[in-house]
Amino acid sequence: MDKIKVVITGANGLLGQYLIRDMAKAGFEVFATNRGASRLPEYEGLEYEYASIDIRDKEAVQQYLFDIRPGIVIHAAAIAQPDACELNKEECRDININATAYIIEAAEKLSARLIYVSTDFIFNGDGGPYREDDLPAPVNFYGESKLASEEIVQKSKTNWAIVRTILVYGTILSGTRSNVVTWVKDNLEKGNHIKVVNDQVRTPTYVEDLSKGIVLIAQQNAKGIFNISGKEVFTPYEMAAQVADYFGLDKSLMEKVTADTFTQPARRPLKTGFVIEKAEKELGYKPVSFKEGIQKMFK
Ligand SMILES: NC(=O)c1ccc[n+]([C@@H]2O[C@H](COP(=O)([O-])OP(=O)(O)OC[C@H]3O[C@@H](n4cnc5c(N)ncnc54)[C@H](OP(=O)(O)O)[C@@H]3O)[C@@H](O)[C@H]2O)c1
Repeated sequence: MDKIKVVITGANGLLGQYLIRDMAKAGFEVFATNRGASRLPEYEGLEYEYASIDIRDKEAVQQYLFDIRPGIVIHAAAIAQPDACELNKEECRDININATAYIIEAAEKLSARLIYVSTDFIFNGDGGPYREDDLPAPVNFYGESKLASEEIVQKSKTNWAIVRTILVYGTILSGTRSNVVTWVKDNLEKGNHIKVVNDQVRTPTYVEDLSKGIVLIAQQNAKGIFNISGKEVFTPYEMAAQVADYFGLDKSLMEKVTADTFTQPARRPLKTGFVIEKAEKELGYKPVSFKEGIQKMFK
């Protein structure tokens, strides 16, 4: 039987680099795309094709999809930094909203499935942990842009799934990128004093779990919204303390602060986190604990 073709946008990103590997491993024919040159590593024994496309270029992205005729499009490309979105709303609108509409339009014409990667930042943080059917109310432009995209996906005629995730951590396979774990480790190792927020909560997500969750959705042709995150609810301070404990680093360098200590361009929702029962029951999704995630990053 012919392999199902899958186009993955945002291939060079933290999630993308794992998703290319895991979808290829799962037997899909993988077409990776991102703007600029490939930053993907060599995956031993696995094949994929890479194309450089800026998804703001409607003609280019749609022509690419018409040429490949994928059975599934996984749309992970985005400006994923809330402050960057707040400071560059026009660019954020073009990438996070308008480009989704171009991709959906082509997916509809091709009768391709659409799997869209979204965020806990569509919620206001007053009532977490959230379930899939809780009411969104974003508090910053990034959240607004991702919610607007979710709405385009949900109104489309595609056979769609939306994967919502939270505070993704892990080792980027090719290149470096800071996340909660590496930021704490690097600073404490240098003896730097760090201020860590202790009044926000999240359910941090190990990147390999997120990638596997998306593979399960693709394999099972699962439809609708799925919360795909870790299971444990932590404040960033609690996460940092676990990192310090794991590496035997000096916790006295960590200062507990409240989120309003920082003046950031984008407001953050205070308490999010996800209830992941639906993914556990319907997909067989099983995330690692935060401690296991740290272990896997540094094994
Ligand atoms: N990371 C998290 O904690 C988190 C939490 C919740 C939801 N999410 C969602 O998960 C998805 C993946 O996030 P991630 O952590 O993998 O982010 P990431 O590492 O920033 O990856 C996003 C990728 O999208 C690419 N991209 C941006 N604009 C583009 C454009 N105009 N054309 C083509 N490619 C473009 C970026 O390329 P360049 O690097 O070249 O700009 C980057 O490789 C995003 O949709 C994000 O909103 C992430």
